[in-house]
Amino acid sequence: MYKKATIYYFTGTGNSYRVASWMGETAAAQGIKTHIGSIGSARPAKEIEQGPENLLGLVFPTHGFTAPWHVIYFTLRLPRRYRTHAFVTPTRAGTKIIGFLPGMEGTAGYLIALILWLKGYQLRGVQAVDMPSNWMALHWGLHPVNVSAIIGRAQAKTIVWFSEILAGRRKLSGFIPLLLGLALIPVSFGYLLYGRFYLAKIFFTSQKCNGCGLCVDYCPTHSLTLRGKENKLPFWSYSCESCMRCMGFCPQQAIEVSQPLAVLLGYITSVPASYYLLKWLTALIPGMNRIVNYWPGTVINYIYFLLSLFFVYRLFNWLTRAPIINKLFTYTSLTHYYRRYHEPGTNWKDLREEKEKINN
Ligand SMILES: Cc1cc2nc3c(=O)[nH]c(=O)nc-3n(C[C@H](O)[C@H](O)[C@H](O)COP(=O)(O)O)c2cc1C
Repeated sequence: MYKKATIYYFTGTGNSYRVASWMGETAAAQGIKTHIGSIGSARPAKEIEQGPENLLGLVFPTHGFTAPWHVIYFTLRLPRRYRTHAFVTPTRAGTKIIGFLPGMEGTAGYLIALILWLKGYQLRGVQAVDMPSNWMALHWGLHPVNVSAIIGRAQAKTIVWFSEILAGRRKLSGFIPLLLGLALIPVSFGYLLYGRFYLAKIFFTSQKCNGCGLCVDYCPTHSLTLRGKENKLPFWSYSCESCMRCMGFCPQQAIEVSQPLAVLLGYITSVPASYYLLKWLTALIPGMNRIVNYWPGTVINYIYFLLSLFFVYRLFNWLTRAPIINKLFTYTSLTHYYRRYHEPGTNWKDLREEKEKINN
């Protein structure tokens, strides 16, 4: 049915890359011209063709019950294509504790699907795939036996589902994920506005870091820079998606997340800045409280939130250069004791942003 399938992925630890690869192999095996590329290296205006004989797919991880901001932004900038077929596949945090536990995609699938539909694409499928949970800031990397069980299950499900899409059937994931997604809108909105910035600013490197710069070169959002004159160490910027690539692949296992810093930042950023500012301004200018109330108060708090993260993180990044402080934060970080995770069949080189696979 299809002449061409273009599949774009965004990936942290390789799960979404692996799912996109399975899809690409399935399409190529059917003689369909297949193009797989990371969203960082995509040239959509050239690569996506118009009309129902072309299929566009987006595969990406769920972050905070929604799609990562880079994926939303990429989808917003896609060219309009009248009736080009499209599917959306968020990957989620599958786990195996006693039995198999699925993740929750919230608005990830249907939000991206809505944008594509508004751009004229004809929606053929929305389906989440449960891959091993990679959120190492929160929990240790899953045991390799469980990882391989989850991946085996995901591969079988993905191939069956995608074969149906290629056969021309429409496969939407249904009402329950849609309703759950709607219920989780406030959480996912909060994640996009606050959570991802906060999570970006709790990374640091232990003394195992040798400044090799692999994390900088391979960051999918180009959010890391090496800073310092002699002792060059990574610095995480606001555009970091907390995708866990740096942490999951670092050969020295030097990248950590500091939970004590997370608590401190939580405390500092929750200070109601607008209240103090307003009190001070009202004492200065009578009637000021009527002006600064409501949404200006929210804006002030938001600016304060970003600024306090900025300054505290800079100070923290600088302080952790001192060996004794670095040791203190390293040994009080849970991640120091955690097993790392990345999709077992994926290595650094597979994830080069420029790397694209063009089959056929
Ligand atoms: C910051 C962050 C937030 C996440 N939030 C969710 C979530 O809300 N729901 C979920 O099911 N999985 C969540 N996950 C798990 C990932 O979506 C999942 O492991 C995914 O397969 C990772 O894909 P990747 O390796 O392509 O980045 C989260 C992971 C990270 C790092």
